[in-house]
Amino acid sequence: MESELPEHVKGNRAAWDVMAADYVENGEHAWAVSEPSWGIYSIPESEVGLLPASLSGFDTIELGCGTAYVSAWLARRGARPVGIDNSPKQLETARRLQAEHNLTFPLHLGNAEATPFADASFDLAISEYGASIWCDPYKWIPEAARLLRPGGELIYLVNGLLLMLCTSQDKENEDAAVTDRLERDLFDLYRFDWSDGSVEFHLPHGKMIGLLRDCGFEIEALIELQAPEGATTRFPYVTTEWARRWPCEEVWKARKK
Ligand SMILES: C[S@@+](CC[C@H](N)C(=O)[O-])C[C@H]1O[C@@H](n2cnc3c(N)ncnc32)[C@H](O)[C@@H]1O
Repeated sequence: MESELPEHVKGNRAAWDVMAADYVENGEHAWAVSEPSWGIYSIPESEVGLLPASLSGFDTIELGCGTAYVSAWLARRGARPVGIDNSPKQLETARRLQAEHNLTFPLHLGNAEATPFADASFDLAISEYGASIWCDPYKWIPEAARLLRPGGELIYLVNGLLLMLCTSQDKENEDAAVTDRLERDLFDLYRFDWSDGSVEFHLPHGKMIGLLRDCGFEIEALIELQAPEGATTRFPYVTTEWARRWPCEEVWKARKK
């Protein structure tokens, strides 16, 4: 029930129902392409190597699936995907695209920090800028661990730690591109409250490693993504010059013991 949602989840639902309109075009494009690509510079899977070599027969859960194009890519590679998202408007687009592409899989409206799915029911949990940044890591990572079978994999893409540290604290200018200075403290890095009422979470690497290990994960990789030369992005908060010098995104891969 909406009234039982934590306040940051309620804030993110309201904010994402507004932002959903800006994600329709990207969702349409991503559903239509067959080669997965990742992050705000659409770096091809062949360069990132984010996905397991085979997904055939995998039960997958996308945590914060938005328009669910990642799950569509997984389905086309032989997986049985399920998506969960907190925004009715994002799921509206996802359902329309499912119908247009004749590719349906279960989509749930809900909070990825506390899902309705059974223990050990998935082989892969994945999130590209979904639960991975919009959910409290101390809630969603234990929840992902609960959902995964032993040997299952957790893969998620987030903003790079350096990018978050170089993000200005000027509330009047939140969309300004990140600077080349450390604007925030590393110690106590955790919650980002934005002026539209949305809330993100980012942890220092040491805390993230500790949390994953506490939840029974073995860390397999931390892939720091570099923007390709001459690439562009529709997002104003980072310049390509910055993203050529420092990782504006990172992918974590961890396996449940
Ligand atoms: C940037 S989209 C991610 C989808 C897609 N990969 C993309 O990059 O467009 C972020 C999604 O996270 C969802 N989200 C935010 N908080 C959530 C929560 N507590 N549980 C599930 N989904 C959540 C939002 O509703 C939104 O659809």
